[in-house]
Amino acid sequence: MGRQVLVTGGTGYIGSHTVVELQAAGYDVVIIDDLSNSTAEVIDNIEKISGIRPAFEEFNLLNNVQLEAFFEKYSDIDAIIHFAAFKAVGESVAKPLSYYRNNLVSLMNILDCMSKYHVSNLVFSSSCTVYGQPDQLPVTENTPKKDAESPYGNTKAISEEILRDVVQVTPQVNVIALRYFNPIGAHPTSLIGELPRGVPGNLVPFITQTAAGIRQQLSVFGDDYDTPDGSNIRDYINVVDLAKAHVIAIDRLINKTNAERFEFFNIGTGKGVSVLEVVHTFEEATGVKLNYKIVDRRPGDVVKIYADTTIANTVLGWKAETSLAETLLSAWNWEKSVRNL
Ligand code: WQD
Repeated sequence: MGRQVLVTGGTGYIGSHTVVELQAAGYDVVIIDDLSNSTAEVIDNIEKISGIRPAFEEFNLLNNVQLEAFFEKYSDIDAIIHFAAFKAVGESVAKPLSYYRNNLVSLMNILDCMSKYHVSNLVFSSSCTVYGQPDQLPVTENTPKKDAESPYGNTKAISEEILRDVVQVTPQVNVIALRYFNPIGAHPTSLIGELPRGVPGNLVPFITQTAAGIRQQLSVFGDDYDTPDGSNIRDYINVVDLAKAHVIAIDRLINKTNAERFEFFNIGTGKGVSVLEVVHTFEEATGVKLNYKIVDRRPGDVVKIYADTTIANTVLGWKAETSLAETLLSAWNWEKSVRNL
């Protein structure tokens, strides 16, 4: 029996790609997901990619009775990767309580069960939003955290504080938080990828849906910022590279090579790229001309942020490998496969 890893939110975008990489590394995976933002078809597609069907339990982590029953049933969990959370920035502004309840109580239920069922290792899905608009760039792990731009970002910042405090008083618990920059792209098989419900909030799915003719036109939210071409700058990280960072973090905890009992790493490429650069790179990589227009700024947008990845590269031993062009092409291939284009 390989090492068993629980992946909460494992039918989601980053979760599903991580399940595939965990299986490739020889881990047995069990998924908990309530399918509120994904479908069970993802399980079929994970099996098509890896040849291994992960165990799957459908329920919401707010239900701690079901969660305890889960740990009674799966008594050999060696580690947990906790993805399950609401993650739409705009929606979180409109529905703060549902975001605080869902994202924080789920985490607390997981932590309660780790103590009760003696699970020692947790990898937590965090976000660069904990840095707000940084005063200096690139962002290191020691860059001061700032007020998050949204309740969603705040749930990630508060979650990290909860983890820090719990680790302090729970000697057997070890945690690694991975602070993602902007995850984009899809699996090279085009069998799994990002499938936002309704109108995409994020840039790349909006681009691919515009290229597919599902959206009329891409709106670029401002080109009057203090950046070379006036549009916002971000650090776009390939989702498969990001998934591999989780496997390395799990290895680190299970092999007990973590230096501290609460560690956190910036998971980015280290390269800042503007919105207009993404648009032009997409057009060059795919040969598809994008219909876009410059509109007003989006409230709450950080002007520029990108990672200093020295610590992830040297301490974690992970580095992003996939180019922006290849990543955008993978997103486009996924869109075409979903729409049967
Ligand atoms: C990127 C850039 C927009 C859409 C958020 C969360 C972060 C993470 C990723 C979960 C910005 C511009 C976007 C559009 C545009 N989420 N844009 N037109 O806001 O950097 O990060 O998503 O983990 O936590 O904060 O990502 O893709 O929404 O925007 O011009 O239609 O693209 O202004 O500059 P963001 P995004």
